[in-house]
Amino acid sequence: MHPIEVRELVKTFGNIIAVNKLTFDVHEGEVYGLLGPNGAGKTTTLKVLMGLLDPDSGTANVFGIDSTSDPIEVKKRVGYVPEEQLLYNSLTSREILEFVASVRGLDYYHSKKRVAEMARALDFTNQYDKPVVTLSQGNKQKAMLLIAMLHAPDLLILDEPFSGLDVRTSRIMKDVIQIHTERGGSVLFSTHIMEMAEGLCDRVGIIDEGILIAEGTLDELRNQSESEGATLENVFLKLTGEEEDVKKGVDALRGALDK
Ligand SMILES: Nc1ncnc2c1ncn2[C@@H]1O[C@H](COP(=O)(O)OP(=O)(O)OP(=O)(O)O)[C@@H](O)[C@H]1O
Ligand SMILES: [Mg+2]
Repeated sequence: MHPIEVRELVKTFGNIIAVNKLTFDVHEGEVYGLLGPNGAGKTTTLKVLMGLLDPDSGTANVFGIDSTSDPIEVKKRVGYVPEEQLLYNSLTSREILEFVASVRGLDYYHSKKRVAEMARALDFTNQYDKPVVTLSQGNKQKAMLLIAMLHAPDLLILDEPFSGLDVRTSRIMKDVIQIHTERGGSVLFSTHIMEMAEGLCDRVGIIDEGILIAEGTLDELRNQSESEGATLENVFLKLTGEEEDVKKGVDALRGALDK
């Protein structure tokens, strides 16, 4: 049993097929990157895994627990950072963390100590007592990460964790992911930042229109796309068939700017 097992997952919204017979695993101790163009179905997949959306068919299991039938048990095992920052805006981060700790039934002293250490590492200590509505995008992202890691989960599911982070905080986020897996934890994250995927992931899955079009280590993907020595960005554009589109777009832009 792997930390994540997705089998033949289908999720539609009306006549949009957001996720189309998606099958993949995330292994223990692995960092798995979910890549794909806007609207490919990444967020939908992560939400089904968290039990926030019911699939049309197929299964999403977390540590052998079915996300659809037992979402509460799944949430206990996972630290989830969603794409959109759902924070109770009038509360401070400290109040939210205390609230979440009590809801999760965590040992207050222990979780407080953990959070304080993480907050220090994230350079967040001076943001703690500000209403979250007043925080910058990056600081909101840090608050979300602290909330997600409060219960020391084995698995992190992060939806575009690097968006809006400054250089220092991206680096810390990267370190958080690496340290987490060094300790045997697993991470599934979505991203558009190819350098992050390239530097962090043991394996990546590329989805397009809800379909897994390629999966493997960077070397395996290079072989698959017959682009030896290429960056992940080039492999991605080739596999998603966007290489030509990008060229045409750049030519058109050049033409427009020349006028
Ligand atoms: N609640 C919803 N109602 C209707 N359509 C939806 C809903 N949520 C997602 N979709 C559609 O499902 C498809 C997949 O969306 P999703 O958010 O999973 O993509 P994504 O890969 O996360 O994209 P991005 O990179 O832009 O975050 C898109 O066509 C989107 O418009
Ligand atoms: Mg998304």
